Amino acid sequence: MRVLFVCLGNICRSPSAEGVFRAHLAKHGLADCVEVDSCGVGDWHVGKGPDPRALDAASRRGFDISALRARQLAPSDYQTFDYILAMDHDNLDAIRQACPKDCQAHIGLFLEFAGEHDRAVPDPYYGGEQGFEEVLDLIEAASEGLIEELRQRLPRQ
Ligand code: 4NP
Repeated sequence: MRVLFVCLGNICRSPSAEGVFRAHLAKHGLADCVEVDSCGVGDWHVGKGPDPRALDAASRRGFDISALRARQLAPSDYQTFDYILAMDHDNLDAIRQACPKDCQAHIGLFLEFAGEHDRAVPDPYYGGEQGFEEVLDLIEAASEGLIEELRQRLPRQ
């Protein structure tokens, strides 16, 4: 099973989701069953590490996302991943626009898995530190929901 988190720049929300979700998988003993990646719909930050504010907020909760590097959504992602999960509606529109007709992946908003129909993870880039905390709160809640969903689809552990 493969999961791709997508935001705009791949330096704040989606690398945070990648790191947090991977840690939650490990906590549930599922680290070897699910591959996780993240990317941005934009290319401005390709090759860069996460925003220092995202690094600090993640680190305060015990998540290390320092090794992640930004990349842009690629055509091959639509074949590679089973779940392509957007942080907000603009990301979702961009993912859908570039989506090939034969794509089998589940494409949707990540917060669906926190029981939040149609809710976005707000872009924290132009805000303060509190925005990064909120991002992590939302990501942690949705990560647990996504793990529940994946458990239904994985062979019994
Ligand atoms: P992200 O945040 O999409 O969560 O990585 C942003 C990063 C950079 C920009 C906007 C949002 N930017 O405008 O450069």
